[in-house]
Amino acid sequence: MNFIVNEFESMDSTSSYLKRHAAESPAGTVVCAKEQTGGRGRLGKSFLSPPGSGLYLSVLLRPESLEEALTYPFAAGIAVEEAIRETTAAEAGLKWPNDVLIHNRKVTGILAEVADQTAVILGIGINLTTPYDFFAEHQLSHVSSVLAETGVEVSIRQMREQLLSQLSSVLEWPKEQLLSCYRKRCITIGKQVHSSNGIIGICTDVSGKGELVVRDEAGEEHFLNSGEVSISGIY
Ligand code: BTN
Repeated sequence: MNFIVNEFESMDSTSSYLKRHAAESPAGTVVCAKEQTGGRGRLGKSFLSPPGSGLYLSVLLRPESLEEALTYPFAAGIAVEEAIRETTAAEAGLKWPNDVLIHNRKVTGILAEVADQTAVILGIGINLTTPYDFFAEHQLSHVSSVLAETGVEVSIRQMREQLLSQLSSVLEWPKEQLLSCYRKRCITIGKQVHSSNGIIGICTDVSGKGELVVRDEAGEEHFLNSGEVSISGIY
C-alpha cells in the first residue's frame, strides 16, 4: 500500500477531517496533525491529543469486503505493537478490541469508522511523550505514554514512518495469520472480564469474526462484538 501523507499543525480530529474529504481521497490517504482539539475515541469518548506529544493520524482505506474491513482494527493494533517494539524494544499488549498497553496502561487508541459506502477511516493515536501526570490529572490514571512507560523518547516522525511501514505489511496478511497473531498478543484472553452489559466471566478466545468469547460461571458462552469490556485489576 502506498501512503500519501498530509501533515497539519492543528485540527479538530484527523478522522473527522478525512470523513469530510472521503469522496475525493484515494485509498492510502493519511492525515496527521501535531494537535487535535476534538480528538475522538470509541463509544463517543474524547481522545486527549496535546500538541507535539503524540502521533495522531488517520488512514483512509477502501476494503473489498465487509470481512476485510472488520480486520482493520486488529491489523492496526498489531502494527502499533510492532512499531513500539522496533522503536523502543518494549513489549506491548493488546486489550480487546484494540487498545495497546504497556505495563497495563493504555498508550494507544484505535478507532475504525465507515466514511461512505466504500471507505473506512482508521484513526490511530499513540501517546509518545505526554507525562503520565497529565492523564492522571484528567482522571485517566489507566492512560500513559511510550516515554513514561519505556523511558525511550520516540519522535513523531520516527513513529509515523515505523507505523506506516508495519501497517502496509500487516494489511497484506491473510485473515487467519492476522487473527492468530492477534490472539497471541491479546492480553484479554485468559483473564476475568466484565462487560458494560453485565456479562462477567473468563475470556477464552477471540472468534474468527473478531468477537470476544466469554464463559460465565454457569459455563455459558457469550460472544461480544462491541461495547466496553474491562479486565479485572487493569481497567
Ligand atoms: C479510543 O481510544 O477509543 C480510540 C482513540 C482513537 C484516537 C485517534 S487519534 C487520530 C484519530 N483522530 C481522532 O479523532 N481519533 C483517532
